Amino acid sequence: MVALTLVLLPLWPVMIHLTPRRAIQHLEAEGPPSISRAGKIRLDMNENTSGASPAVARAVRRSAQGKHLAAYPEYQAARAAIARHFGVSGGQLLLTNGIDDAIKLICDTFVNPGDVLLLPAPTFSMYRFFHQVAGGRIVELGYDWNFRLPLGRLLDALRPRRGPHPRWLALANPNNPTGAVIPQAELKVILRSAHGTLVLVDEAYFDYSGETVLPWIRRYPNLVVARTFSKAYGMAGMRLGMMFAGPELTGWMRRAQPVFPVNSLALVAALEAIRHPEAVRRHAQQVIRSRDWLCRRLDGLGVPYAPSATNFVFASFGENAPEIARRLQKQGILIRHWSHDPHLRRCLRITIGTASETRKLMRALEGLRSLIEPLDAERAWREVLERPRGQGK
Ligand SMILES: Cc1ncc(COP(=O)(O)O)c(C=O)c1O
Repeated sequence: MVALTLVLLPLWPVMIHLTPRRAIQHLEAEGPPSISRAGKIRLDMNENTSGASPAVARAVRRSAQGKHLAAYPEYQAARAAIARHFGVSGGQLLLTNGIDDAIKLICDTFVNPGDVLLLPAPTFSMYRFFHQVAGGRIVELGYDWNFRLPLGRLLDALRPRRGPHPRWLALANPNNPTGAVIPQAELKVILRSAHGTLVLVDEAYFDYSGETVLPWIRRYPNLVVARTFSKAYGMAGMRLGMMFAGPELTGWMRRAQPVFPVNSLALVAALEAIRHPEAVRRHAQQVIRSRDWLCRRLDGLGVPYAPSATNFVFASFGENAPEIARRLQKQGILIRHWSHDPHLRRCLRITIGTASETRKLMRALEGLRSLIEPLDAERAWREVLERPRGQGK
């Protein structure tokens, strides 16, 4: 018997009784898209569909040599040049693997299990994701039907009568998916009221909106501003983001950051990209022209859309929105839909691509006219934005 056990033992299935942290047990696995996007018209992820500037591609090709790839990255000179370009000191800048990684770094540095993230809704999903990975709780406040922040409720939530202050507040400005901008006067009131709360102002779409609070990092020690090379710079694949804040916050976050947080080709690409600001400006101007054109055509179809300061348009197509997205996908055009989200399932988010991609999209949408439900704007947006949301998940 003993001999038989010894023979069979290596064949026994290995049982691992390892459970992850409690915060992870409640998460669902989410990943990047499972279908290949190659060769399709990619209007689903707010990328610059024209691509990075040719000068950036050339610089990366020049550096993609064995010796360069074999060496760990060096940050000092690149950080100084990037800081200079954005008008801050090296101590006020952290380079991250995209803004996604900046959000993770905020959570790694500041969030204890049970801490509260205050979050307008709907908004970019990564704030919620990393905060939940850290074991934090979320208090959501719905945007008003006209895409304004619920300022009074937000100020109350920043100064709760009972319980601790929120650990941080995440504001995408402009917001994804709505494209709305928070007026600077409101941001000032929020920053003045947020004692003991870190305020992230995520300016991923700054190059389209032109609105920034970056200089305010000198005035507000609780302010963090995030920017990225993923959008207007056309470098989403390089994964390079930036976080700007006063020296106290960057000092803490630097302690929680890996020694080599971003790769050396991303640095090469960024250093070349900032030498060509006119390429970014030209791209943004084309996007704004195409966005205005698309909005006029949506008016013609009776489709309500949110005023956008970004490279995308968020529109309410009615009950058939997921079906419209599916039909467009069959024609090789990808746009963003939310078929499983009861709040957003009637909405579609369309990235503004090149002028020719925008025309192709519009032709395809006009071909699906019979599926589109012309809607009254106020009713449509009240339906989307004013449905009750869960608190404290
Ligand atoms: C508001 C906002 N922040 C951040 C990101 C992600 O940026 P990155 O590619 O730098 O991680 C996105 C991407 O869609 C976004 O919409």
